[in-house]
Formats: sequence, C-alpha cells, structure tokens
Amino acid sequence: MTTQQLSRTTAIVTGASRGFGRGAAIALTQAGAHVVGVARDADALKEVSEQLGAAFTPVAADAADPVVAGELIDRYRPHALVLNAGASPLSRPIHRQTWQTFSRNWDVDVQHAFNWTREALLAPLEPGSTVIALSSGAALQGSPMSGGYAGAKAAIRFLTGYAAEESRREGLGIRFVAVLPQLTPETGLGQAAVAAYAAREGVDVATFLQSRPPVLTPGRAGEEIARLITDPGHDQGAYLLGAAGLNPVT
Ligand SMILES: NC(=O)c1ccc[n+]([C@@H]2O[C@H](COP(=O)([O-])OP(=O)(O)OC[C@H]3O[C@@H](n4cnc5c(N)ncnc54)[C@H](OP(=O)(O)O)[C@@H]3O)[C@@H](O)[C@H]2O)c1
Repeated sequence: MTTQQLSRTTAIVTGASRGFGRGAAIALTQAGAHVVGVARDADALKEVSEQLGAAFTPVAADAADPVVAGELIDRYRPHALVLNAGASPLSRPIHRQTWQTFSRNWDVDVQHAFNWTREALLAPLEPGSTVIALSSGAALQGSPMSGGYAGAKAAIRFLTGYAAEESRREGLGIRFVAVLPQLTPETGLGQAAVAAYAAREGVDVATFLQSRPPVLTPGRAGEEIARLITDPGHDQGAYLLGAAGLNPVT
C-alpha cells in the first residue's frame, strides 16, 4: 500500500496514547490515514486527540479484550493495524518475579496480538492490508530483568509469521510483519528497563547509554512504522528497528 493508497483509509493503532504508538498515530495521520487509537487512559488519549484533531478517533478500552478487537475491526474495517499495546514488565531478576509478574506480557501483549491477528484473518481485512505487531529486540537477545517479556515478544514474532503463512495459504493478500525495536529510554516502558539495567551494571543511565547504539525516539519509530505500511518494498516478515531505521531480521 503506497502513501497515496493509505490516504483516506483507516488505521487502528493499539497503545496510541504514549510512546511508539503515539508516534505511529502521528505519522499515519500525516500520511493521510484516519487513525483509531486504543488505550485505557482516556485523558492521555484526549491529549492525542487535541493534537491530531478530526483525523484521530480515541477509543478508551483494554486492547487485550477479544470483544474490543472484534468490535473495532467490524466497525472500522481498517487497512492497517498496528498492534503496539504492551505492558511494562516488572524490572527484577527471575527469582524476584512471581508467576503473575512473569506472565504479565503474555496476558497483555501476546493475548492482544493473538486476538487482533485472529480477527484480521477471520474478517478478513481487504487484500493489500497490513498488520504490524510490535515484538522486541529482546526476543532475540533475552531480557533477564524483565520476567517473561522476551519470551512473550518472541511468541508475537512467531504468531505474526504463522498469520502471514495463513494469509498466503488462503490467498488473502494481508501482509503481517513483526517489528523488533531496540531498547530506548524515550518511552515509559523503555525508561524503566534502561534504569534497571544501568543499576544492575552499577552505572548511571547516561553511562549505560554511552555503550549502546543511538537512541530510538517515538517520532522516528512512528515514521518507520508508517513507512513499513506504505512502502511495498518492505516484503520481509520481521524487521529490527533502531535509530538508523529498519533492517530485516536474518
Ligand atoms: N520502549 C522500548 O524500549 C521498547 C523496545 C522494544 C519493544 N517495545 C514494544 O513497543 C510497544 C510500545 O512500547 P512503548 O515503549 O511505546 O510503551 P509505553 O510508552 O509504555 O506505551 C504503552 C502503550 O500501550 C498502552 N497499553 C498498555 N496496556 C494496554 C492495554 N491493556 N490496552 C490498551 N492499551 C494498553 C498504554 O496506554 P494505557 O496504559 O493508557 O492503556 C500506552 O499507550 C510495546 O509493545 C513494547 O513492548 C518497546
């Protein structure tokens, strides 16, 4: 789908109130799409609405609720879905997790990606539609201070690949892509994780960041997510996302 084709279509972004999701909502409205943004905090969504005006429809809801996924896909028939909503894991080593804290990202991130992916295939979305699911670089490297986070994000990459295969088998023409961003201190989730890893290494955040690649901002992440949707040249199933842009996962 080119920018011209995206213009005047609808995109749904989950977790649109902050961080990467807000960045994606901004970039997609700039590309001409109408964005339906889902998050639980109505006040934070209202701020995005005030910024983006009529191009943005806020929906205060739990994105992991299967009824929310079904209703919004039926109502809006989106041409692009950005499955970005995610819980902040408890930043502690494994033996300081409980099963409930360990499995939080499975209950929120994976359950939400599963429900929306399923609904996208069942609808089905129109041929040429794109579904992007936010995995994480942690899916490749692990994240020993984040409980079940890395495994949950790896599961999202797998389920996105399975959905791509079903789309191919059924001739649906729906593109499913997983995006694996690098850790960044520029969002609420990333800030907590960076602080925890810096403390674990016994250094301050600035020192910790010196040894890492340039910082990925929500604005840059949003632009790259929009580019992934509008540039048909991006035909791989999974991409790493850093400040320098997208790179296929090999
Ligand atoms: N930041 C990083 O370093 C990093 C790296 C790799 C991958 N990621 C992934 O990128 C995605 C976005 O992360 P972020 O860093 O932008 O996080 P963030 O700043 O904490 O924003 C998370 C967003 O998700 C929403 N959300 C959380 N639970 C929700 C639920 N049950 N229903 C609806 N919305 C929900 C939040 O709004 P409410 O709380 O109001 O619902 C918020 O809009 C996540 O999937 C994350 O795992 C982040």
